[in-house]
Amino acid sequence: MSDFTSNFWSIYVSAITVVSILACALLLWFSGKAKAMTASDNTTGHVWDGDLREMNNPLPRWWVWLFVITIVFGFVYLALYPGLGTYGGKLGWTSSGQHKDEVAKGDAAVAPLYAKFSAMKVEDVSRDPQAKAIGERLFMNNCSQCHGSDAHGGKGFPNLTDADWLHGGTPEKIKETLTLGRMGNMPPMAAAVGTADDVKNVANYVLSLSKAPHDSVRAELGKSKFAACAACHGNDGKGNQALGAPNLTDDIWLHGFGENAILAMVNSGKINQMPAQADKLTEAQIHVLASYVWGLSNNAVAK
Ligand code: HEC
Ligand code: HEC
Repeated sequence: MSDFTSNFWSIYVSAITVVSILACALLLWFSGKAKAMTASDNTTGHVWDGDLREMNNPLPRWWVWLFVITIVFGFVYLALYPGLGTYGGKLGWTSSGQHKDEVAKGDAAVAPLYAKFSAMKVEDVSRDPQAKAIGERLFMNNCSQCHGSDAHGGKGFPNLTDADWLHGGTPEKIKETLTLGRMGNMPPMAAAVGTADDVKNVANYVLSLSKAPHDSVRAELGKSKFAACAACHGNDGKGNQALGAPNLTDDIWLHGFGENAILAMVNSGKINQMPAQADKLTEAQIHVLASYVWGLSNNAVAK
């Protein structure tokens, strides 16, 4: 109701509500007073099936009282709870307030548990079965839609269970990734490389870095063109985690494998975003989640 700029609808709705309840009371009172036209034997004169007669008896007492109680209840309810236009009710109850209270209660119940984990090192939390279960649930709810329920990722979404990291796999770096998010940005590079042929050559050179099938003549020709890439991917093509530039020598491909996938990267570039979680998850939740993610690639043997 507060979305309206004038009071009109508030008053309109309140008036309809109050008038309706009063009309019910009036109807009750009237039906108690009014005399129906009855025959001398207290029937209305309506007859069905030969001998079924409609009697004109007053409403049963208990029914009348139920009606009265309902009307009183309606007024009491409207006085205590929101229901009359913008009037908030004496108790000040709101559904969002109730939700907030329940969330706060839930948070308070798990706070000691999170406090215990927050005081522990990521490495230790990652081996705690209870923390692992919590981390897994947090992951399912917040991360699996992009990284997959098994965290193996997919095209454009990194696998979090291997030792290959775009932005770094230390506990601190993973926490930073979760808290602030990450932006992978490779600009279109074709113009800097040269002709379309040069681009094809450099793509074959990139393939040669991971010993993937490639045209070795083109790779040789493309080697010098890789200078345009070295600023981010390094002279040796091993990448740079400070820039989120992937290692091109490990045969792990975020954006697809093969000449065409590499040509697409060089020609079009790519902006890839990991959304920040700081406004969605608490620091303690991020700590548990980072431990879970760290454990995926570091605790494999301990499973
Ligand atoms: C909307 C999709 C999306 C969601 C949701 C998402 N991520 Fe990501 N995440 C990405 C993308 C895309 C990247 C790669 C960013 C890049 O290319 O630099 C990424 C990168 C990462 C990285 C860095 C990997 C590396 O190699 O350095 C980690 C760790 C990570 N995500 C963990 C998580 C966790 C934990 C969650 C759940 C809180 C999550 N992500 C939720 C899309 C998502
Ligand atoms: C300004 C920095 C920068 C330059 C210059 C750059 N790249 Fe990249 N490159 C990146 C980043 C960052 C990514 C990761 C994008 C992402 O997060 O999804 C990337 C991704 C790639 C990928 C995809 C890797 C995969 O795992 O799928 C290929 C291939 C690639 N670059 C090749 C090149 C080549 C070839 C050049 C030179 C012609 C080049 N890059 C120049 C920053 C750069």
